[in-house]
Amino acid sequence: MSNYHIKHLEEYYQVYRKSVRNPEVFWEEIAEEHFLWRKKWDNVLSWDFSKPEVKWFEGAQLNITENCIDRHLYTRGDKTAIIFEPNDPKEEAEHITYRQLHDRVCRMANVLKDKGIGKGDRVCIYLPMIPELAISVLACARIGAIHSVVFAGFSSTALATRINDSECKMVITSDGSYRGAKTIDLKGIVDEALEECNSIESVLVAKRINSDINMKDGRDHWLQPLLDDAYHDCVPEIMNAEDPLFILYTSGSTGKPKGMVHTTAGYMVYTAYTFKNVFQYREKDVYWCTADIGWITGHSYIVYGPLCNGATTVMFEGVPSYPDFGRFWDIVEKHKVNQFYTAPTAIRALAKEGVDHLEKHDLSSLKVLGTVGEPINEEAWHWYDDNVGKKKAPIVDTWWQTETGGIMITPIAFATPTKPTYATLPFIGIQPALMDEHGQEIKGNQVDGRLCIKFPWPSMARTIWGNHQRYKDTYFSAYDNKYFTGDGALRDEVGYYRITGRVDDVIIVSGHNLGTAPIEDAINEHPAVAESAIVGFPHDIKGNALYGYVTLKETGEGRDHNNLRKEINQLITEQIGPIAKLDKIQFTNGLPKTRSGKIMRRILRKIASKDTGNLGDTSTLLNPEVVQEIMDNAL
Ligand code: PRX
Repeated sequence: MSNYHIKHLEEYYQVYRKSVRNPEVFWEEIAEEHFLWRKKWDNVLSWDFSKPEVKWFEGAQLNITENCIDRHLYTRGDKTAIIFEPNDPKEEAEHITYRQLHDRVCRMANVLKDKGIGKGDRVCIYLPMIPELAISVLACARIGAIHSVVFAGFSSTALATRINDSECKMVITSDGSYRGAKTIDLKGIVDEALEECNSIESVLVAKRINSDINMKDGRDHWLQPLLDDAYHDCVPEIMNAEDPLFILYTSGSTGKPKGMVHTTAGYMVYTAYTFKNVFQYREKDVYWCTADIGWITGHSYIVYGPLCNGATTVMFEGVPSYPDFGRFWDIVEKHKVNQFYTAPTAIRALAKEGVDHLEKHDLSSLKVLGTVGEPINEEAWHWYDDNVGKKKAPIVDTWWQTETGGIMITPIAFATPTKPTYATLPFIGIQPALMDEHGQEIKGNQVDGRLCIKFPWPSMARTIWGNHQRYKDTYFSAYDNKYFTGDGALRDEVGYYRITGRVDDVIIVSGHNLGTAPIEDAINEHPAVAESAIVGFPHDIKGNALYGYVTLKETGEGRDHNNLRKEINQLITEQIGPIAKLDKIQFTNGLPKTRSGKIMRRILRKIASKDTGNLGDTSTLLNPEVVQEIMDNAL
């Protein structure tokens, strides 16, 4: 057995060295020994970051669902693949074995085929965290359709934009969703979105909340009767290594969301390998990632990575606060969770509630704790370590992105000594670089700069759907021959990395990436608004919250500011979703601009963060006088 399971630090260094000295040999061995191929590759890797073009395992043929499901049927057919934990703790959890998963994915795949979906077609999945979500994802992969999962908290406008961008043929949704004590009318949102979409031919509707909804004749179909009638086996479509597996949208600092395209073989190999090592998953473990499958974390580390390893993965439909803040710990105890992976924002929200909830539960099953999505502050790290892991469960602070497909910088549990707030070391095969403002790589330790990756890794996104130029401009133009992450980082005296945050206009709120431009566009649609600028400011629980500076047209003057604030947030909710609502809105007579008309966000950020001691050089501003006015009226 080669290097598949790393157990201590020396082994990490040894395997790491091998993986960067001879990446092709290294990845070939991993791919060869641990996955099921219909045909082996002709070439392990070809790449050219100037185009950019990256191909892994070219010539290979496979189906990822054979790796995630079929091959386990012989050895672990009766093992639980997915534990579904419903929103309401009184509703029973569902244990889906690998055999049952096979049956359900095949039936779903046959339903899709019957509705005219084939290889290469795009299917939009807009579902809550119910088994049908994972099953739909896998069913698409079974038949070679490209899934585009849209987080079910996005608004109808956001959904329509995503459906149209990739011209999806089908939407899979449900009659509604539960979220704590609330229900959400998902089908209503889909109906509204589809008024703006021409490409959708059919809508499949799962029943979840039993609400009375409208079904459009000829277009909408209840899912369950179709599944009941479908055949329980489905021959997998044989895919080429570089065939697209899915599209997942992520916000950019400007323009519409970017449909990141992930392909099949490299994504499979890398997510499976990282899952196994980072979390040190063992055969009998129960693993739980609290993310939503609507985000990359859910794709890679609820569905593909765990299932590829034959793991038991928990899917939780609800929220951490329902029926009370003890819910996570209740689930850990109930399912004897061994690996628990969540976001800093959830840890901070739980920490605020104190330890009473924790003390009521037996958390002794926990072996490894993970975090992802944003920098974790020291206080939250220690709270997690002391109270949840009782100092016995290593914390893996995993840094990665929608674009990277899998975890990039992270401790390997039990192998890498952890350090609060540090994502620590590059994962096997990952070659990070810190860059200075002149585009030069900063060598050595105890330095900080902009984080790039200088060599391809198997699960990197290959393009932006329909816009390869934008892919190149966004990720491969800032620095020569390197992938630019958009993050800043520092490297300490032993080579550990700490991610310091975004260096562009993306703001991470509660672990969700939000681009400023789409929010500003939404605000500017308000008839009374002339102009707006959004910045982030530190927030105890969300990490960052949004602060909007808004200038009004003459028609808006004299209007009640509180009403305007409500209307602006309403517009944002409609255009994007409630996650993008602003915490603070300040009305001002102008925005600080450079002589070329660019808004000086740096100054606005400082004012929003109440860090006005040194505003830097304001002399180059076109209108320096507005700075004082904004400071005087800051919220
Ligand atoms: O800024 C980094 C932050 O989240 C960004 C990626 O967001 P997204 O594509 O939504 O993917 C999130 C889940 C993988 C990164 O550019 N980020 C993610 N993980 C960490 C982090 N920042 C600090 N520490 C992390 N562990």
